[in-house]
Amino acid sequence: MVEWFFPHDVYLPCGKNHSTIQPFNHLIIFMKKILITGASGFVGSHLVEEALGRDMEVYAGIRKTSSRQYLKDGRIRFLEMDFSNKNELAKKLKANKFDYIVHNAGVVSVPKLEDYYRVNYEFSKNFIEAIYASKYIPNKFTYISSLASYGPASSDDLSDFLKEGHIRKPINTYGKSKLKTEEYLAQLNDFPYVVIRPGGVYGPREKEILTFFKLINKNIEGYIGSRDQHLAFIYVKDLARVIIDATVSPHMQKAYFVSDGKYYTQWDLGKYAKRILNKKTLRFHVPVGLVRSIAWLLEQPAKVTGKYPALNLEKVSILESMNWKCDISALKKDLNFEPEYDLEKGLEETLEWYKKNNWL
Ligand SMILES: NC(=O)c1ccc[n+]([C@@H]2O[C@H](COP(=O)([O-])OP(=O)(O)OC[C@H]3O[C@@H](n4cnc5c(N)ncnc54)[C@H](OP(=O)(O)O)[C@@H]3O)[C@@H](O)[C@H]2O)c1
Repeated sequence: MVEWFFPHDVYLPCGKNHSTIQPFNHLIIFMKKILITGASGFVGSHLVEEALGRDMEVYAGIRKTSSRQYLKDGRIRFLEMDFSNKNELAKKLKANKFDYIVHNAGVVSVPKLEDYYRVNYEFSKNFIEAIYASKYIPNKFTYISSLASYGPASSDDLSDFLKEGHIRKPINTYGKSKLKTEEYLAQLNDFPYVVIRPGGVYGPREKEILTFFKLINKNIEGYIGSRDQHLAFIYVKDLARVIIDATVSPHMQKAYFVSDGKYYTQWDLGKYAKRILNKKTLRFHVPVGLVRSIAWLLEQPAKVTGKYPALNLEKVSILESMNWKCDISALKKDLNFEPEYDLEKGLEETLEWYKKNNWL
């Protein structure tokens, strides 16, 4: 009896189920083994669903304390990971031999600025060193960075947009910590990485933009400043699809900006939300200068306590940036990316989910 093995390289295209593939009698197809870190979070939980949908053997990388609320599918395996413990990580990686790793764990908003560097940079570096120490390099290591690692495009010239080779000037510690990890990856000539840089991600389970929708739901439409902001968005399901596409693709040592390819202003968010929620609103604008002064005042105790308030000068600098347009041509060329959702369609699904789950 001859048995056929497809170790390491079998790639099942998106949506294909093993049962739809008719193998020879004794053909054995190994499922691709993928580790997704930060699986308990907003993007991570959607990544897990996307990978399961492709019949991959999915390991959710979580902490002891992580919620498993969105990780209820019985096919999910769990791997507890402590990114501060390199030896332990290396042992776990050696024991599991993952085909693919998506390193999505990270902090987006933390009260202590040094935690951006600790989690987004040092823990990522530890993780990659542990991969080397395990002596088992996956086919692909996909790092989830951010547009923030570039900082905004020109606010004065709105025809400017972020693209490879554009000057990089991150304007907050979050962006700087992501850039540092990208720079670390870029000097690893033999490491099969790709970097993903999403714009604003929205969708079911997202908690930051939700605040704006909650106000709209109460007939209040509040903005900071009154100048048009040009924003790039991506619906979380399109993002999850493109991350897994990049992960299983032959492309490596490359980075991709990710948005739905269109540009929106902050007023579009309000316009679509009002239509979908069927609300009339009272619109007001808080001057940026006033918000900046409040943020400065709130921040003063942080100089002693080290704990930054939710409204801080870093957040204000993001709100003040007028231009986050980015170039997704590499994504289209290498991965045939066509977004399934634009902002209006994505918001319909998102707001429906919020209502169904009593978040609105
Ligand atoms: N949301 C966006 O608009 C956006 C845009 C661009 C890039 N990104 C990137 O996408 C990734 C996911 O973001 P998200 O929006 O899904 O954030 P999220 O919902 O806060 O999820 C973050 C995930 O990272 C994990 N994590 C945080 N600190 C950790 C630590 N010290 N050790 C191990 N795991 C840790 C969290 O685990 P616990 O559940 O245990 O806390 C959680 O699973 C991040 O790398 C972020 O920078 C997000």
